[in-house]
Amino acid sequence: MFTVKSYFVTGTDTGVGKTAITAALAASLRRRGIDVGVMKPIASGVPQKTGFKSSDVTLLHEAAKVNDAEEMINPVFLPVPASPYDATKVLNLNIDMKMVLEKFHHLLNVHQMLLVEGIGGIMTPITRSFFVADMIKEMKLETIIVTRSTLGTLNHTMMTLGMCKEYGIAVKGMIINYFDEKGSLAERNAPSTLHEITGLPILGIIPFVKDYQKLDAMTSIVEKNIDLNLFIS
Ligand SMILES: Nc1ncnc2c1ncn2[C@@H]1O[C@H](COP(=O)(O)OP(=O)(O)OP(=O)(O)O)[C@@H](O)[C@H]1O
Ligand SMILES: [Mg+2]
Repeated sequence: MFTVKSYFVTGTDTGVGKTAITAALAASLRRRGIDVGVMKPIASGVPQKTGFKSSDVTLLHEAAKVNDAEEMINPVFLPVPASPYDATKVLNLNIDMKMVLEKFHHLLNVHQMLLVEGIGGIMTPITRSFFVADMIKEMKLETIIVTRSTLGTLNHTMMTLGMCKEYGIAVKGMIINYFDEKGSLAERNAPSTLHEITGLPILGIIPFVKDYQKLDAMTSIVEKNIDLNLFIS
């Protein structure tokens, strides 16, 4: 029998690859026979015409092959492409965090393992004074940081890790996305420098995937570049 833990996947920024990597990890772990659930507690953006309102949720759901309802996987969808706080201001509503956390605990109980994708980065505001970092704390989950390898990533990653420290959030390690082995010196050095400075594990280095559109392509890349045994014991 496997022993697995649940994780919160955050990133140094929006668009860094949280969904792509969380979905591929979920699909890979599923292939290993693990009942992995997925959650995107809060999503914002233009509602999609096919699948779920959030394209992130559609991909996560497809990858994990779960039967959970949209309102469980994504209890809050805000149809404004902005931070949750900004979206709620426009929509004139409040996010019910108690309800979000109840759904989170339900999914945590019904699955062997849960992968929760954040929104934006760690200090994205959900309310004026409640940030993604606060949500991670309330969920009491260890965090995986998805980061880029391009110039500027040392600064963004160190700031993200600094906030994790300040909030007392445990970090399992970093996944470096969009890596180009033929990239600049800064880019090629990013993984080793990040590990050297932070002492944290680099859980995987994911190259830019040309045929990303297909979940299977990303899943194969993730399986090749991330040791799944890091998540299973
Ligand atoms: N390794 C990769 N190679 C090629 N394309 C990628 C890769 N990783 C992610 N992408 C693409 O980059 C875009 C952003 O990725 P993704 O949606 O996973 O980011 P995110 O961090 O989840 O963003 P958000 O903050 O909106 O949730 C997507 O269109 C995805 O298809
Ligand atoms: Mg996403």
